Amino acid sequence: MRRMVAETRVAPAQLMLPVFVKEGIDSPVEITSLPGQYQHSTESIKELATRAAEAGIGGIDLFGIPEHKDEIGSQAWDPKGILNAGISAVREAVGDELVVCADTCLDEFTDHGHCGALTPDGRVDNDSTLPLYAAMAVSQAQAGAHMVSPSGMMDGQIAVIRDALDREGFTDVSIMAYSAKYASAFFGPFRDAVDCSLKGDRKAYQQDPSNRREGMRETLLDLAEGADVVMVKPASHYLDVLADVAEVSQVPVAAYQVSGEYAMLEAAAANGWIDRRRCINESLTSIVRAGADLVLTYWAIEAAQMFREEF
Ligand code: PBG
Repeated sequence: MRRMVAETRVAPAQLMLPVFVKEGIDSPVEITSLPGQYQHSTESIKELATRAAEAGIGGIDLFGIPEHKDEIGSQAWDPKGILNAGISAVREAVGDELVVCADTCLDEFTDHGHCGALTPDGRVDNDSTLPLYAAMAVSQAQAGAHMVSPSGMMDGQIAVIRDALDREGFTDVSIMAYSAKYASAFFGPFRDAVDCSLKGDRKAYQQDPSNRREGMRETLLDLAEGADVVMVKPASHYLDVLADVAEVSQVPVAAYQVSGEYAMLEAAAANGWIDRRRCINESLTSIVRAGADLVLTYWAIEAAQMFREEF
């Protein structure tokens, strides 16, 4: 009876897998603080993408880890840069079977680890960062991305990227906007995953966890600028924001179950303190129940199988 009347069902197609592609490695390297997740080579990322397509998930979201970082993150828009190479490799492997999305942000590419260019006195410079994001997004579209995903929280980034993509003829490439993205300690393991060189924090551009209305304000701005998908991130501790956004958004709403959410649950499960499978299921079901149309989760492949068995 419960199965028959369940109000929320999670479908494999609404899951998206974040993946890491790293320059200069031949075989996958496991990420210590994200057990079961790997930094991939451009070869092994193809196998992973193929498995993701076979699992029936909706898409994958690529993050790149370059060998050389500089002040402005110029590897980010280099056509031969690791992220662009990864996008092409994945498109070659899966064609249109998966939505191939790329992270459009400079933090993996800058030597200071911030999401944008800096002013001479070391602050993140919103406006001089925007053209860099535009160049990055265009290079990702050229590499074959179906969707670009600006996660740097610079004001005006969606409008600038939309305009640049359109001008280059990529009117069909969509934008998934990290809209309500909070300055969260739950990003910790991700920063290991991308060899992040950040000192300090991102509080000058990511949202304050105590602010609910502000998440909505950021989302409304991104909608007005032309976002095709809006995102709330992290997910589990921000279900109120997610429910607010789902109520007003005219476009699909994504939620990102971030690295810390994954790591906490994996660690507790490894200690035998919680039932791993049921907790994964419950966490994803709750995120969808709160209003997410799609969920970025490191469990995407495994969860697709799990939910298929469930219903
Ligand atoms: C920034 C970015 C971050 C994450 C996704 N994109 C890190 C940050 O903002 O510091 C975090 C994802 C996760 O924790 O799983 N490019």
